[in-house]
Amino acid sequence: MNSGKTELRKEVNPVFLTAQTCLCVLDRSGDPDAKQLNALLQCTITDPPGLSKVSPQRQAMFGRMAVGLWSALEARYKATNGFFKNGRGGCFVDLACGFVPRAIGFARSGIRYVGIDLPAVIDRLRPAMAECITENQELVSFAAADVTDYASLAKAVEGIDEDLFISAEGLLPYLTDDEIKVVFGNIRRLLSEHPGVFVTSDPELERWNKRITTAAVPGMISDPKEFVQLSEGNISDVRFGDNCVCKGSREDVEKAVNEMGFDVDLVPLYTYIGGEDQLRSLPEERRAAAYEVYKSICFWVLAARDTEDAHFSDSNEGFSAEIKCVKTTLYITLTGRLDTVTSTTLLELYRKAVKDQDIKRIIISARKLQYISSAGLRVLMIMNKSLPSNGTLIVNYASDDIRDVFALTGFDTMITLN
Ligand SMILES: C[S@@+](CC[C@H](N)C(=O)[O-])C[C@H]1O[C@@H](n2cnc3c(N)ncnc32)[C@H](O)[C@@H]1O
Repeated sequence: MNSGKTELRKEVNPVFLTAQTCLCVLDRSGDPDAKQLNALLQCTITDPPGLSKVSPQRQAMFGRMAVGLWSALEARYKATNGFFKNGRGGCFVDLACGFVPRAIGFARSGIRYVGIDLPAVIDRLRPAMAECITENQELVSFAAADVTDYASLAKAVEGIDEDLFISAEGLLPYLTDDEIKVVFGNIRRLLSEHPGVFVTSDPELERWNKRITTAAVPGMISDPKEFVQLSEGNISDVRFGDNCVCKGSREDVEKAVNEMGFDVDLVPLYTYIGGEDQLRSLPEERRAAAYEVYKSICFWVLAARDTEDAHFSDSNEGFSAEIKCVKTTLYITLTGRLDTVTSTTLLELYRKAVKDQDIKRIIISARKLQYISSAGLRVLMIMNKSLPSNGTLIVNYASDDIRDVFALTGFDTMITLN
């Protein structure tokens, strides 16, 4: 591509440069797929364009901060892969994939993958990936699409009959409120035509960046946002994280997401990173502190609400259950104590919800579940047994006490516990 066109693309797409960062970070930390891909693409991390304009002390601080931010990118990448592989399954749709090498490993593992990004990225990425992926090439595709354009997204997933796991990493903070509404509307529409979920940790990015850099970098004093602004802010007028899903409390963001037609489930991310040793770009003595921070950072698992889908809810004696059926998946939210008395409420509700339905997957949000008795476990067992042999029952976000009950009874070996 001629350099004039590349320059123009940088101007119209303020995050063009950021598409390269994760690949470079993974390459530096020794990921073999990233090494192979970057040997072809030759991406490099360059200093933020605005860095030379700040004082030498701040330049040094930003240099140290970058290491913290890079470790966060690596952790996010690894955790997303782990989360998907641990029980979600289906087709991984990498929305705004940048140059991440994910497709190489996924093809090797026989996983269907669709990478979506702007033409500036896809035009460079596609031929390089074609060289790197030697087996199961038919499982992988790349689409030049704009996330704000529904038709281009629909075309990218046309003909896919598996559940979609739509993932966005590092995309949402760059969008305005208006764009967020359009993009969430598009994803909702995609999910009304294909079963699946939308998973992102972008609403946590502000919390994550600040806390990770503080844990990972000794003597950190600056706000990472300033660093990000230096990187991209002067290319165009991007106000990083300045939208309804990336700023404010979790409650505010959850409300905004609900209003855009999604139910939210929060799943802690650290179990999927694969241990502190995955934070290789950090100095050894800082890894444990950074890993601790990840314990409070979550994936936002978003299920599109369909107004025509059946909703069942009931409450009884400090317990409530909400059940929603979306195509072949049953989403259940449990609150309070699931004991001998309240288990009957749940079983009755469940039977009503699955009547005449072909349910293949049950996803339970246990975030607000305080207690489960053996009667409660029996109801979960009944649900699990009713699934076809390739079906799954997933319990998300259970407290340590409830996990202990699952472990003691051996129930944790029968279901997927996230
Ligand atoms: C920060 S990068 C993240 C890349 C990758 N997901 C990662 O984790 O490294 C943001 C990506 O969003 C892409 N992007 C920005 N606006 C987009 C749009 N309207 N449609 C599709 N992709 C877009 C950029 O090209 C870039 O690759």
